[in-house]
Amino acid sequence: MENKMKKIAAVMTAVLAVTASGMFTCPLTAVTASAENRIVVSDEEEEYVGDVDDDFEDEIDEDEDEIEDEDEDEDEEEEKDFPVRVDGVTVIPSHIALRSPVTVKGKVTSDVKITELTAGVYDTSGKLITGKTVKGSAYGFDLKNIDKYILFDSLKDGAYIFRVTAVTADGNSGVLTSQKFTVGSVKTFPSDYDDTDDYTEDDDIESDDDDSESIFDISDETIVPEKLQKGKCFSVKGIITSSEKIYTVTVGVYKTNGKLVTGRTVHPNTKRYDIHEVDKYILFDKLATGEYVYRVTAAGEDGDTEVLTEKNFTVTASVSKSTAKSASPTYIDGILVVNKSYPLPEDYNPGGLTSETQKAFDKMADAAKNDGIKLAICSGFRSYSYQKQLYERYVAENGQKEADTFSARPGHSEHQTGLAIDVNNASSSFDGTPEAKWLEQNCYNYGFIIRYPKGKEDITGYRYESWHIRYLGTEKSVELQKSGLTLEEYLGIDSVYAE
Ligand code: DAL
Ligand code: ZN
Repeated sequence: MENKMKKIAAVMTAVLAVTASGMFTCPLTAVTASAENRIVVSDEEEEYVGDVDDDFEDEIDEDEDEIEDEDEDEDEEEEKDFPVRVDGVTVIPSHIALRSPVTVKGKVTSDVKITELTAGVYDTSGKLITGKTVKGSAYGFDLKNIDKYILFDSLKDGAYIFRVTAVTADGNSGVLTSQKFTVGSVKTFPSDYDDTDDYTEDDDIESDDDDSESIFDISDETIVPEKLQKGKCFSVKGIITSSEKIYTVTVGVYKTNGKLVTGRTVHPNTKRYDIHEVDKYILFDKLATGEYVYRVTAAGEDGDTEVLTEKNFTVTASVSKSTAKSASPTYIDGILVVNKSYPLPEDYNPGGLTSETQKAFDKMADAAKNDGIKLAICSGFRSYSYQKQLYERYVAENGQKEADTFSARPGHSEHQTGLAIDVNNASSSFDGTPEAKWLEQNCYNYGFIIRYPKGKEDITGYRYESWHIRYLGTEKSVELQKSGLTLEEYLGIDSVYAE
């Protein structure tokens, strides 16, 4: 292949770089590598260096092919002078709520070696607030490898710029993407910010937003899950309130290039509007797989449009039943999923509660004790064979149809993961007790969720269980709690036996 793209060895998994010569770096493996062919994460104590494996090289080949296909219309490329590009970079919403995470993705490719790459969030004076610089020598880089260093959820109220910049071996530097956005209560980017300046210059912007204060507020919203399985519905909810009459509201799903795919615009002419009224027009279940932005905007009579909610999400291919029924456990979005659709193999046995789950429970029980609440484990890990005995007993006592509403078939119980706990008393007499209330109000702070909530029986496949908690880690448990979604809704999956 004479194509110049042939040189792009691109994808760097883990924390690092690769070249066609076959070196790459991987976390926590300090091995020597040619200084020529690596990029290392700077200002870290460890240097991440290792050898490329065969699978990895395959990955590169596939990537090269993809890039070649896309290369057909390269004539249209504008930035001919700087030889580094980024493809599939995350579109940062123009406004994000305080403490909202944003996942940074994108593949950087170059015709000449890149020696330094920085992805980060800057304030309007040009100061880097959160981000990462990686150094080395390679033809490409995968931004997902430094995503964890770009802490969008740590940003305070304000106006920011997300930028990816690169320096090449010949000493040239350039901006690969520069996207302005605001966080929290600040909803308008300073109008006098001039982003035509070189990115290294200080722009010293005065924030003078007195006349740009938001007149809208949105509350009780549902949050679109980051991943929605193809064909799944999602119900939009949220109350918009305003000090003035709301003239226009648009709720929609857009492609990342800004094109509206499905949505509705209404003119309420009131000071309060429940966006659930347009829910039936937002056809999440008809979306093709791909990346989207869910956005709610509102305008007053003066026509000034404000973005009230903006969330990137991905529609993922539906997981086929055959995959679901495969012998291996199913992880979606890093979460081990076990329900009526997703079983565990018979021999899956962590040997008890996982140590993280146990620790989190102990910490929660201590906190509860301080509040005068006693929490104890009534049932933790259950093996496949123990669950089989339990289930068969319930079937014998109640019949299978009834048993299926409250007891999992063997291989389908979350208790087999070592991540689920029944607290105090696994029966409806636990409902509404001070212990149950404390658990419901606090468990998410310790990484747990109430797995089978009231009113969601059709979604989880089980009756309300006030006592059954599932460990997810605090990042996910807090996100789920905020969203008001069950795990099934959050991941866009179902919970039904194949039969
Ligand atoms: N009671 C829950 C659904 C189980 O059996 O795992
Ligand atoms: Zn349980």
